Amino acid sequence: MRSLDGKSYLVVGGSHGIGKGVVGRLLDAGAAVTVVSRSPLDREASEQLTHLNLDVTSACLDKSHLPAQLDGYVYCPGSIYLGPLRQLTREALAADYQLNVISAVECLQAAQPALRAAGNASVVFFSTVAVAQGMTMHASVSSVKGALEGLTRSLAAELAPKIRVNCVAPGLTATPLSERFLSSEQKIAAMADKHPLKRVGCIEDIAAMVEFLLGDGATWVTGQIIGVDGGMSSVRA
Ligand SMILES: NC(=O)c1ccc[n+]([C@@H]2O[C@H](COP(=O)([O-])OP(=O)(O)OC[C@H]3O[C@@H](n4cnc5c(N)ncnc54)[C@H](OP(=O)(O)O)[C@@H]3O)[C@@H](O)[C@H]2O)c1
Repeated sequence: MRSLDGKSYLVVGGSHGIGKGVVGRLLDAGAAVTVVSRSPLDREASEQLTHLNLDVTSACLDKSHLPAQLDGYVYCPGSIYLGPLRQLTREALAADYQLNVISAVECLQAAQPALRAAGNASVVFFSTVAVAQGMTMHASVSSVKGALEGLTRSLAAELAPKIRVNCVAPGLTATPLSERFLSSEQKIAAMADKHPLKRVGCIEDIAAMVEFLLGDGATWVTGQIIGVDGGMSSVRA
């Protein structure tokens, strides 16, 4: 018997990056997973793994395509748009808000009946260490992820006690989204040096926390913003 045998999860953005790591862990633990993404998966669909091809910023997830019962929902799409205030356009800010917040809400609305049906379900969103740190050039990503942190706490109150809502705030983690910051040995070393634990994150660092929040070990955890960031948000080494 594996720890998630018989459970079912929705992972929006499970085709690569952290979401792919989460999907792998859930499947290995025995769960069934429905993945939503624009690109195909690099593993075969099966009884345990369903893929829905959708750009969540241009169409809403159809709840009739979801299982009747979901034990959890993870929303992974996100952005790292960096730039000075003078270059921040209304369109860029609106696109960041759509991808990070509005589409996360719309997918949750589609999943809500199935999450309620599970009786004790878990939602995980992603913020960033930049919200708590005040980093230069991060105005857009910090503000939209800050909104997601507020959303996490508000929905944790509204959806309790049947649905828990938490948010993971990673530090810089090696994924397709961050590859431009980690494209040489020098960049990796410089980024690692900024962290008290002297390395950047890997997918498994973050996916392990998400798996914990989705599982039975976290049934008394809701409304939390959890930093998984090599100590950057809270430690001065
Ligand atoms: N990596 C970091 O350093 C870092 C740091 C702090 C916070 N975060 C946050 O952590 C989360 C995961 O980051 P990541 O690095 O794993 O990102 P990633 O490598 O860009 O992966 C994002 C996933 O979301 C999917 N996706 C993106 N846009 C989509 C859309 N419009 N419709 C449907 N699916 C979409 C992508 O698949 P397709 O392209 O196939 O659609 C992919 O599966 C994000 O919210 C990010 O902001 C990451």
